[in-house]
Amino acid sequence: MDLHLLSSLYSLVAFFCVARLVLSVISIWTKISYKYALSKWIFQQKDLVKKYGSWAVVIGSSDGIGKSLAKELAKRGMNIVLISNEEEKLKSVSADIESECSVQTIVIYADFSKTEEEYEKIFTVIDGLDVGILVNNAGTACGLPYLFENMSRQQIWTMMLVNMGAATVMTHYILPKMISKGKGLIANMASTSSFAPTPYASLYAASKTFILSFSESLRHELKGTGVDVQVIHPFFVDTRVAENSKAPTLPKVLYPSADKYAKSLSTMIGEDDITAGYLPHQIQFAISQSLPRCVQIWMAADFMAVRDFRKEQQSRKDR
Ligand SMILES: NC(=O)c1ccc[n+]([C@@H]2O[C@H](COP(=O)([O-])OP(=O)(O)OC[C@H]3O[C@@H](n4cnc5c(N)ncnc54)[C@H](OP(=O)(O)O)[C@@H]3O)[C@@H](O)[C@H]2O)c1
Repeated sequence: MDLHLLSSLYSLVAFFCVARLVLSVISIWTKISYKYALSKWIFQQKDLVKKYGSWAVVIGSSDGIGKSLAKELAKRGMNIVLISNEEEKLKSVSADIESECSVQTIVIYADFSKTEEEYEKIFTVIDGLDVGILVNNAGTACGLPYLFENMSRQQIWTMMLVNMGAATVMTHYILPKMISKGKGLIANMASTSSFAPTPYASLYAASKTFILSFSESLRHELKGTGVDVQVIHPFFVDTRVAENSKAPTLPKVLYPSADKYAKSLSTMIGEDDITAGYLPHQIQFAISQSLPRCVQIWMAADFMAVRDFRKEQQSRKDR
């Protein structure tokens, strides 16, 4: 083939590839900014009580994102059931919400690392309530980063029971009630680590992948019932969960406080099937998803801990 023709052909292909990339970046960017702009001016004005019901049950609401989100939902007129395993902290969150938001709260002390009895306690209290939103937020990172083989059996059970068990059992209890009312929202707290394996947080990331898969299957099963299932997947937020990773070295805009994150997230509640809940995290997510999976895993490992974490742990043991 004529050399000149071949080089023109290559240039044309290269032009189309670059144009496609630019168009997809513009399209993602437009979609994201449009959603978050709408969230501020339109979604936030929606009446959650009318749409779903008068009570929101937030599990894991004594601290971090759950505590801040409970307050944001209360600001939108919802009564709140606060559940966690620290009674004193819960009482103070409850007092704070009631004094600032003029809504009712109920405090339930329950340890999700235990089984049936704890749930019975919860179900007895919330049985007669018009629960419109269930936020399955309780979670523990068991002090990540860790090497899986160094986790104790107790830590393994705690992580599985709190991160997966609580959301599963709570959803199983609440769903029939929501279906019979023909409305409701289950908002499940996943993580960006739901989307790619995360070395040095292997079980944590796997528990979050469970939440993602469980929620997406349920959403499909629930089509036509009026009940929505939403997945929330933050990147790093400044709470106990992230404190031992490299997240604290990130710029503040990428590592927001729980209050800042929850303020943004609350405007997206019930609006998108899957949301990062916070614009900078949504952009980070779009970029990370466009990378090859091996790069995503490499970056996740780097964020969780130094890459020679195993060697470091070994030399600590040897000292
Ligand atoms: N922070 C992040 O960077 C990040 C990123 C992605 C996803 N997430 C997810 O976001 C959710 C909230 O975490 P967070 O960052 O806000 O962390 P956090 O401040 O540690 O809050 C975790 C909440 O879960 C509760 N909880 C933990 N173990 C429990 C148990 N055994 N029984 C009952 N409640 C229990 C805690 O209650 P106590 O205070 O009583 O222990 C607390 O209210 C978690 O599902 C987490 O995996 C966080």
